This record gives sequence, structure tokens and C-alpha cells, in this order.
Amino acid sequence: MKVLVVGASGLIGAGVADALSANHEVIRASRSSDVTVDITSPESIAAMYAKVGKIDAVVSCAGKVTFKALEEISYQEFSKSLQDKTLGQVELVRQGLDYVNDKGSFTLISGVVGREAIHTGSAAALANGALEQFTYAASIEMPRGIRINTVSPTVLTEAKGYHPYFPGFAQVSLAEVTDAFVKCVDGWSTGIVHKLG
Ligand SMILES: NC(=O)c1ccc[n+]([C@@H]2O[C@H](COP(=O)([O-])OP(=O)(O)OC[C@H]3O[C@@H](n4cnc5c(N)ncnc54)[C@H](OP(=O)(O)O)[C@@H]3O)[C@@H](O)[C@H]2O)c1
Repeated sequence: MKVLVVGASGLIGAGVADALSANHEVIRASRSSDVTVDITSPESIAAMYAKVGKIDAVVSCAGKVTFKALEEISYQEFSKSLQDKTLGQVELVRQGLDYVNDKGSFTLISGVVGREAIHTGSAAALANGALEQFTYAASIEMPRGIRINTVSPTVLTEAKGYHPYFPGFAQVSLAEVTDAFVKCVDGWSTGIVHKLG
């Protein structure tokens, strides 16, 4: 299969792109990759798809949110978080429908903060929760046998900088996260939020 990985230069995206490369042709995209895209810009997403052409699967490991205490976070920061992590990935799906082949798939990323509260996590919870609900709803409207899933990992063992914000939380290895993405691309599930940890 021809698989487009967005966020392929990041911790999770690079791992996922490497794992998928074992069996598939992988195209790596991000703001700094060979194929450039800024998921906060619908025009940039359109240019990426026009350049890449038809594909069998789209994997997203991108999406940024603001972590700030509720009493300090602004309307603009909530809005920016939704625009980036939620609408950025939704737009990858919306536009991607014109490019993904029959029986292809989309796999998105959310995160544990969608289901367990952490201090400063309200924008992340909002963005992740909305994306997960989109996954369920979009799955029943996907045309041509196309599947959609979201992977929702807890904090990664390798993401040491985040550990102080997740006291006592289960951790998941990069290998387990990449396995979940491979399962979504190579498997049969649709409308599932794969929760890890
Ligand atoms: N790390 C964890 O423990 C963990 C746990 C659960 C969920 N998550 C979620 O998983 C996702 C990836 O996390 P990560 O730790 O792998 O992050 P990361 O190492 O910072 O990687 C982010 C990737 O996304 C790309 N990117 C960022 N903004 C972009 C944009 N506007 N358009 C296109 N590409 C963009 C980055 O490349 P460029 O800068 O070149 O664009 C990079 O390839 C995030 O949404 C994060 O919330 C992470």
C-alpha cells in the first residue's frame, strides 16, 4: 500500500513511518519533511494531497494543543488548539476522501487527556474528545469501504519531558503505539478509538 504519514518527523510519527515501511511505501509529511504540510491550513493540506496523489492510507501523528491552567488559558488558545489538533486532522480526512482509494483508511491520533484529567489539560481534553467523537460519527459515513480509527495513547515511556505532568499514569512504549497504528492500517477495524494505557 501507499501510506501517507503526517507528522512523520516526530517521536510517534517517525516510529509509525518506520514500522509501516516494512510492508508499505511510506510518504513522510510535516512542516519540515520532504512533502511539506501545515495541518492548520486547509490550503496547505490541499497542496499536499495534490502533490501526493492517490493513496491507500492516511496516518496522522500531528496535532498541537496548549497546556495551561484553566484560569490562565485564553479563548484564542482554546480556539488554536481545536484548529490544530482537531480541525487539522478532520481536514486531513475531509479533503483526503478525494484521494484515498477504495477500502483505504484514515488513522488519527488523540491521547489519554481525552479520558483522564490532568492539571493544564482542558484544551487537550477538548481537542481529543472532539476528535474521538468525530471518529465514531464519521465511520458510518465513510464511502467506498474506507475505514477511520483513532489511536489514543497514554504518555509514552520515551517522552520523558511529559512524565512530571502524568504522575502515576500508566506509560506505553513507542513500539506498542506503532503496533496500534499498524493494526489500524493493516487490519479491519473502523469507528474505533484504540485506547492504550
Ligand atoms: N508523546 C506522547 O507521550 C503522546 C501521548 C499521547 C498523545 N500524543 C499526541 O501524539 C501527537 C504526536 O506527539 P509526538 O510526541 O510524536 O509529537 P512531536 O514529537 O512533537 O511530533 C509532532 C509531529 O507533528 C508535526 N507537526 C507539528 N505541527 C504540525 C502542523 N501544523 N502541520 C503538520 N505537521 C505538524 C511535527 O513536524 P514539523 O514540526 O516538521 O511540522 C512532527 O513531525 C500529538 O498530537 C500528541 O498530543 C503524544
